[in-house]
Amino acid sequence: MAFPESFLQELKLRNDLTEVASSYLTLKRHGRNLVALCPFHGEKTPSFNIYTENNSFYCFGCGVGGDIITFIMKIENLDYVDAVKFLAQRAGMDMPEDSYDDSMSKLRNRVFEANREAARYYYKSLYSPEGKEGLDYFHSRMLSDRTIRHFGLGFAYGDWSSLCDYLEQKGFSHNELVAANLAVRQKSGKGIYDRFRNRVMFPIIDLRGNVIAFGGRIMTDEKPKYLNTSDTPVFKKSENLFSLNNAKNSGSRTLILCEGYMDVIAVNQAGFQNAVATLGTALTREQAMLMKRYADEVIICYDSDEAGQKATSRAIPILRGAGLLVRVLTVPGSKDPDEFIKSKGADGPAAFQALIQKSGNDVEYRLQKLRGGFNLDTPDGKVRFLEEAAGIIAGIYSPIERDVYISRLCKEFEIGKDAFVRQVNSVNRRQNRENSKKEIRRIQNDLSGRGDKLDTERSKKPRSSSAEEALVAYLINNPDAADYIDSHIAADQFQNELMRRYYTYFLNRIRDGMEPLNNLNSDFSDDERSRVYKILAKYGTVAGTRQSLDEYLGIIAEESKKLSKKDISNMTAEEIQAYLNGQRQ
Ligand code: CTP
Ligand code: MN
Repeated sequence: MAFPESFLQELKLRNDLTEVASSYLTLKRHGRNLVALCPFHGEKTPSFNIYTENNSFYCFGCGVGGDIITFIMKIENLDYVDAVKFLAQRAGMDMPEDSYDDSMSKLRNRVFEANREAARYYYKSLYSPEGKEGLDYFHSRMLSDRTIRHFGLGFAYGDWSSLCDYLEQKGFSHNELVAANLAVRQKSGKGIYDRFRNRVMFPIIDLRGNVIAFGGRIMTDEKPKYLNTSDTPVFKKSENLFSLNNAKNSGSRTLILCEGYMDVIAVNQAGFQNAVATLGTALTREQAMLMKRYADEVIICYDSDEAGQKATSRAIPILRGAGLLVRVLTVPGSKDPDEFIKSKGADGPAAFQALIQKSGNDVEYRLQKLRGGFNLDTPDGKVRFLEEAAGIIAGIYSPIERDVYISRLCKEFEIGKDAFVRQVNSVNRRQNRENSKKEIRRIQNDLSGRGDKLDTERSKKPRSSSAEEALVAYLINNPDAADYIDSHIAADQFQNELMRRYYTYFLNRIRDGMEPLNNLNSDFSDDERSRVYKILAKYGTVAGTRQSLDEYLGIIAEESKKLSKKDISNMTAEEIQAYLNGQRQ
């Protein structure tokens, strides 16, 4: 049930990784390879490599690696079959029939269709007599019908089954509706009932325009105030943003990040199309990376209550870490943006625009917060504030930016610049030392294999493991050497179980006349696949020499003769003697 090998091979020939990746990333040539800032984790110096010899990639920062299909799966957020379809379409190839298992892909499509029908139904319900309550609610919150239509807002009736009945009659099965999380299975296991009842509905739409989930708000003070679609085959809360589909067309490289659905909608109605919100969870790295694809700068616009301020402090490093510039907008008078805009009536848009203009960057925000903790009327308070402030300024990446804050504070507090610069520099050096220590520790761990969850044997048997890794890389790069290698070594001589599995797998594929790397996505887990590309990145994707091959074979043979402690403890005295005799020869 996999794709035909010849099809995959052609697919990869017709879709050049460098060419495809360059439409998502800025690639720089680095010798024979290309490097870029990794799109899958935040970083300031590029560790994402594209290897042109075999059309693969590997990121030394986050350890993700693969071929062009993996790249498309990850960057377009598609499953395997859909990524293959995406590439086939790009290259103008027909998909092979019936040869692959696309049940998951089919289910996902059915869930998209069910969601789309549900969104239409909810929207229509809003304008039916029984939906008046919902429409009145939105109107009471000052939303115009135009805004309601723009966001496709809706209403879920109060009974238990109107949506299920409607969608079943449209041909959707119980399974599909439960998978979409539009319906819930009864405890008895027999029937299903509507998940959302008596709520106003907010559809969540992905970047391709698919309805992927819903948020539903109760119209009273009951709890929970909002009910959201749980994770489904097409939706992961932590990887999506409300209204990004809309914001990405705003023509601006700045995004306004709000806490809630109503904030985003109110901000939009006030004329700012570039607002997004997380979906009831704290901001994640994935969401920050997603924003980075459409923006250079994010203005955090959270509620002004304590929870909102805490969330702001937590969001700043995540956004910075994704390489975004950050500003913080403070809404006056313990309100959220929605309440603020409404409180200004017709002046709402102008008042919000003024807040945007007034919003300072994240450093200003942090310094401002810091000020609150000290009594700046006393010399002692001033000194302690400036010491802490030096810590914040020392963390700024750009020297010019650092200088701006240093100058500003020195002027304000009437202190000499030299002393403050020394303070900042000393903290900066300490931070750099700590960072490089951390980096060295990371590299040491990586080299020694300590803490390696996938390959737990490497740290215990570094010599044989390295030789085995190198041999696997050699085999992949030199399929012609398969017979030679096989005649000199047997799989059971491998000490490292993971390498033995790779070795056996690649040897068999080569014997069967297949491209070694062609089907890794189906035959291994994500981590196992990435590890193969790590090994290739480490030992070079170019062919090694025959001499180095013989070295690897020699080490593996030698190490396989050494007995482990466990073996020895199970041996009889005679066996041990025989073993030692053998060693001495
Ligand atoms: N949220 C949620 N589940 C809840 C409460 C909140 O998922 N039980 C999420 C929603 O996405 C909501 C956001 O957190 O939009 C912010 O919550 P909150 O500030 O309480 O609501 P508001 O956005 O202010 O909504 P409203 O103005 O309708 O009260
Ligand atoms: Mn609100």
